[in-house]
Amino acid sequence: MSNLGQLIEIPTHRDERGSLSVAEIGGVLPFVVRRAYWIHGTKPGVSRGFHAHRKLNQFCVCVSGSARFLLEDAKGRQEVVLDRPDRGLFVGTGVWHEMHDLTQDCVLLVLADGEYDESDYLRNRKDMGSA
Ligand code: TYD
Repeated sequence: MSNLGQLIEIPTHRDERGSLSVAEIGGVLPFVVRRAYWIHGTKPGVSRGFHAHRKLNQFCVCVSGSARFLLEDAKGRQEVVLDRPDRGLFVGTGVWHEMHDLTQDCVLLVLADGEYDESDYLRNRKDMGSA
């Protein structure tokens, strides 16, 4: 199986007050963040994503709740459940991704290395080279 989406343990400072997780350059973040967005309030049964990016790299964290990622590239498929605020998923260039089973309390934070650009989207699986 190819290593499509890299699961990353996020350094977390835990003490008697609770926890604080950190994503920074030189740490777990492999790129400079130029955009952050978050998906929340997802209606039951709704799936999202269904695209890959030509150039964009993203780092996803389910800061609340959980979501199941389906990842695919020319080499294979992988399923990953994000259900912890101290774990991130790196979704690199050219990886088809779908998000399923988002819980009602799911807040999915996405850090990206580029601004929103519709022309960067590959929305047809055929363009992935594997379908
Ligand atoms: P969409 O790409 O459909 O989200 P997903 O891939 O998670 O299903 O995005 C929903 C809407 O939000 C769409 O109208 C585009 C807009 N959008 C922005 O304006 N900026 C952004 O950074 C993102 C990710 C989406």
